[in-house]
Amino acid sequence: MPAHVGIVMDGNGRWAEKRGKKRSYGHKFGSENVDRIAEHAFSSGVKSLTLYAFSSENWARPEEEVKELMKLLAQYLKKLTAKAVKKQIRLNVLGRKDRLSAELVAVIDKYTGKTAAFTERNLNILVDYGGRGEIAHAARAAAAEGAITEENIEKHLYTAGQPPLDLIIRTGGEIRLSNFLLYQAAYAELYFTDVLWPDFDEAEFDKAVESFSKRKRRYGKIGC
Ligand code: IPE
Ligand code: IPE
Ligand code: MG
Repeated sequence: MPAHVGIVMDGNGRWAEKRGKKRSYGHKFGSENVDRIAEHAFSSGVKSLTLYAFSSENWARPEEEVKELMKLLAQYLKKLTAKAVKKQIRLNVLGRKDRLSAELVAVIDKYTGKTAAFTERNLNILVDYGGRGEIAHAARAAAAEGAITEENIEKHLYTAGQPPLDLIIRTGGEIRLSNFLLYQAAYAELYFTDVLWPDFDEAEFDKAVESFSKRKRRYGKIGC
């Protein structure tokens, strides 16, 4: 079982378009899937789950779509918090906060605060997140400490202290990272599926884990 799984939850828009609906319809179903997959991942033994909800580049979408995504985020954070508290999972919203509305930041602080004491397992939701931005932020913090070393950079990544990223799943058929966890991806196994995010269910998650379990991780060494 991978200790840390990252998911690029892609394909909501196409899922809706296939049904002749607006993109926001796909986002609604996609947001409902977050809870289902998180529950399944943690009950399967995952320790950290990192979900890409909104990238730094997604601000370039139409204002109406951005608004809808932010609204849905506040709604599912509430649901996730209730479950996280029950299951003692720490909920983290990671990314830049300075471009989010003050109301949303207050909601995020309120919900994540309720789980701040838990240390065993983490559910990370990436919002206004970009891997390049995260690395730049960590490098600046490392420089301020006197040395831009890998060790110092790692200390300042948003996922510091959590298990190394084992597996990246991307739904929706694109074979790229789109600025997702670039530093942490160094030795992660990659799994791409054409299944669109709202259709990605427990069985699809299990398929990704099964594929992961068959990989030979060599980390640059030689051997089987
Ligand atoms: C969800 O999928 C990912 C988000 C940025 C919220 P998309 O909205 O990118 O859906 P597609 O890729 O256009 O189908
Ligand atoms: C990546 O999906 C971001 C999220 C899933 C939040 P995008 O749909 O934004 O990625 P591109 O534009 O296809 O690279
Ligand atoms: Mg997309």
